[in-house]
Amino acid sequence: MPRFKPYSYEQMLMIPVDLKSQLQPGTFEFALNEINEIVGEMGLSVFDGRFRNDETGAPADRVSALQKGFSTDSLDRRKEMATPQWIDVSKLSFSVLMLLEHPHLMWFPRNWPGNELGIALKYNKPVYDYFCLKAPDSRTWLNDLVEQAGDCRQSTVRQCEIAVMKRICDWIVYVYCPEEYDKQPFLKWNNDELLCLADFDGKVIADIGSGTGRLLEQVVAAAKTVYAVEPIERLRRFLRSKFSAHRGKFLVLDGLITDIPLSDKVCDLVLAGHVYGDAPEAELRELERIAKAGGMVILCPGNSDLDNDGHRILVARGYQWSTFHEPVDGAKRKYWKTV
Ligand SMILES: C[S@@+](CC[C@H](N)C(=O)[O-])C[C@H]1O[C@@H](n2cnc3c(N)ncnc32)[C@H](O)[C@@H]1O
Repeated sequence: MPRFKPYSYEQMLMIPVDLKSQLQPGTFEFALNEINEIVGEMGLSVFDGRFRNDETGAPADRVSALQKGFSTDSLDRRKEMATPQWIDVSKLSFSVLMLLEHPHLMWFPRNWPGNELGIALKYNKPVYDYFCLKAPDSRTWLNDLVEQAGDCRQSTVRQCEIAVMKRICDWIVYVYCPEEYDKQPFLKWNNDELLCLADFDGKVIADIGSGTGRLLEQVVAAAKTVYAVEPIERLRRFLRSKFSAHRGKFLVLDGLITDIPLSDKVCDLVLAGHVYGDAPEAELRELERIAKAGGMVILCPGNSDLDNDGHRILVARGYQWSTFHEPVDGAKRKYWKTV
């Protein structure tokens, strides 16, 4: 019989970080590193006196090495890594950003490490012009970014373009190749996790932030009417095509989770998957507003398997919850409440 080591999930996960690839051109940390490499330790010997380990102690890390490891750039890179990389954006032209839609330009993160966005836009004038025309309110911000961008070599510009595209890879997939999102293995969680929560037969159902319709696939046939609310036009077109067999009872609407284009108390079931959390209170108020008395709001998946603020707010509002397995990503939570 094999004798396996006991395994504990209660342990810290150590993730390897490639420091070289953390140091991106155009950042303060990159410049600092270059100077360190060229002129040596840049007078950091002032710290040497703190280390008296030359004969007996363990070797210490150089201060310059610590600088690299804890740079703000490194922290921002980790945030970028959190964006799922559903396609290899390094193969795409930066012009793909001209497929982005108005909501995306409103949601653009304002904290670009090392002005990667400014550099990429400076060298891609048509994309810059498109952004300014599509979102005139952002013109001042975009203009400042481009003005702050220095002159760069073509290789640096390309690195910046790829860094920007990686950070918004999910948005690029929605507007460029939504079928790639639809194929993602993490969407293949067990349908019973949704179906066991309510009876969908003959019901009026709204799904907010429908994406490619993962939640609706399971319930559309039984439903009386389905409202698929989705702010991205490219996804709305995808939904209309994917569910064309249900035309007549499958209505696709433009809207936000904080601004749903439906009257009060019209739905038996209000669904939302992978969309709750940016403004929890406002979102839950709106989801519950469109549910009939006795109707149900279901978030599936509603959250990561964490007792974070999003979770606490749901529990305080009377939501029940349980954990289930989502392929690739692991444990997720679903939440439901009768209104
Ligand atoms: C990760 S996808 C989830 C799609 C689908 N519900 C699912 O579970 O697979 C998030 C979707 O929510 C949409 N979305 C993002 N922000 C939104 C908002 N504020 N209001 C409504 N939908 C939003 C996105 O366009 C995208 O289609």
